[in-house]
Amino acid sequence: MNPPQSEVMKVELHPISEDEDVGHIACMTIDRPDKLNALNADVMASLKAVCAWMEEADDVRVLVVSGAPPNAPPEGKRAKPHAFVAGADITEFAGAGSEVIRERFTDNAVEALWNLSKPTIAMVDGFALGGGCEVACSCDIRVASDRSTFGTPEINLGLIPGYGATQRLERLVGYGKAHEMIMTGDMVPAEEAHRIGLVNHVVAPEELESTVMAMARRIGSKSSHALRVGKKIVRTALDVGLTEGVAIEAEAFAMLFDSEDKEIGVHAFMNREKAAWKHR
Ligand code: COA
Repeated sequence: MNPPQSEVMKVELHPISEDEDVGHIACMTIDRPDKLNALNADVMASLKAVCAWMEEADDVRVLVVSGAPPNAPPEGKRAKPHAFVAGADITEFAGAGSEVIRERFTDNAVEALWNLSKPTIAMVDGFALGGGCEVACSCDIRVASDRSTFGTPEINLGLIPGYGATQRLERLVGYGKAHEMIMTGDMVPAEEAHRIGLVNHVVAPEELESTVMAMARRIGSKSSHALRVGKKIVRTALDVGLTEGVAIEAEAFAMLFDSEDKEIGVHAFMNREKAAWKHR
């Protein structure tokens, strides 16, 4: 099943292992570098299409999300900066009223990304602002280069975040820091983003891809069934209280004991073998 491609979205498949056929990692690149990969309607439609494809593509186990690097500048012009995504495309906001925006921001592609049942990693190299910060927050894990900058500058447009930062950023960095970011619109450098829990790892730009791909391979080589259950149950913690959440975990844990992959994993450990997951 080939991944969807478009003018503004490239998807490459990479095998998890060179030696055996255990599935693929999908690397999705938002490709509008001249506009710092800003999320226009085309990008959002493409992102939704990729998420729908990911859910159906059985042998694709992990999604890596990135922004295209800058093009070489025309002679005499300055190079554009590196960007993951510099936000929603602001030019599409001019003159738009609530009717248009409500439709566009309800059930949007960032929610589709958030709702994917498979593991997702944001590979951030450069600006991750507004909707870009929110795309990153909608992934399960964030890894950034040390030249990256995060922020929610919507307040400078007389707005607030619209792709979930009031909720998901708040869960990552806490109430006080989320308020500070959303109220000031200040940029947060990668090291600070790491310190406050917004990103999992910060590495040199030249190590970013290898770090992310190594992590994606490690994750992709686990039982996709157990990964799916684990992701769902960790998400439960965002919506329910602790006592209920622990009970939900206990039930999911028990259910996994009826899965083929649990028996495969336990026997592989006892026989000092590599587990050959069924992934069901
Ligand atoms: N929407 C639409 N276009 C955007 C954009 C966005 N969110 N962010 C950047 N661009 C465009 C710029 O208009 C510019 O286009 P042009 O070269 O055709 O004029 C191009 O991307 C490069 O950006 P530029 O502003 O020239 O780069 P810079 O290095 O001077 O500044 C930023 C970089 C990220 C600080 C600046 O682009 C910026 O503040 N962007 C908006 C961030 C934002 O508010 N995001 C939240 C949106 S809700």
